[in-house]
Amino acid sequence: MIPNKILEGIERLDPLPVTARKLADMLGSEEPNMREIAKVVEYDAAVAANILRVANSAAYGGRYRVQNIRHAIVRLGTANLLTIVLGEYLRVFNLPEPIFALTENDLYLHSAASALMVKAMAREARGTMPPNASIAALLHDIGKLIMVRYLKADVAAMLSLCKDKNITFVEAEREMLGYDHAEVGGAVARKWGFPDEITWAIENHHRVVPGGSGPVLDAVMLANYAAKSMGAGLGAEGLNLSIDYAGSRQRLGLTMKGFERACAQAAIWLDEQKKDVYSAA
Ligand SMILES: [Fe+2]
Ligand SMILES: [Fe+2]
Repeated sequence: MIPNKILEGIERLDPLPVTARKLADMLGSEEPNMREIAKVVEYDAAVAANILRVANSAAYGGRYRVQNIRHAIVRLGTANLLTIVLGEYLRVFNLPEPIFALTENDLYLHSAASALMVKAMAREARGTMPPNASIAALLHDIGKLIMVRYLKADVAAMLSLCKDKNITFVEAEREMLGYDHAEVGGAVARKWGFPDEITWAIENHHRVVPGGSGPVLDAVMLANYAAKSMGAGLGAEGLNLSIDYAGSRQRLGLTMKGFERACAQAAIWLDEQKKDVYSAA
């Protein structure tokens, strides 16, 4: 059970930027109206500039450079637009101190690496990657950001519990706190009104269900694992997590080689994004 202190923290959480809020509302609609989306995005100059930059970046780019925001919107689609807007929100999220031995920067890079990994896997997978998977991957650890604001977690005690009982970090969270960052993340996604598919994946990204629980969750689990293998956001949790690596991969139609190529591609895109973001800052 999530304690009141954390639930109140979620209530007090900075509201989503207006642009993200409106895009999230449009996510559910069967046929998003491009003109409506353009209206939302064009009004926010910082967002519009960022979207144009990302639409032409290696990860999202096509053969031709897009010159204006309307073309960028058509190229990216609602889910990618929202991933970009939320990525920026996470980057400037004010983290008062490191949590779980992760700094603010690590957490942002971990999120960014996970979202890029979903894009890279989509290129390699035989099946179709659901558009919401990149948003879920980006936000999967949002619970950690909330927990650091309202809770002092004793990381050393958690680590020794992992060692003594041979359990994963998230199991140690559950044992010591009675809940974990995935549950907190699910509560945040629910407050923000995200589609169930995204909320469910955030909430369950550390629970291995035999047979899987749908492609979004499979994608998030693999992306989390890959981001950690790349060294993006290892923190105290390290690679100490359970995952049905082969099962998730097979259900998404990814060979082992394909997964490895996706890891290499995502690492390159992450490097480019780091250069881009930090030279622009
Ligand atoms: Fe996690
Ligand atoms: Fe993670």
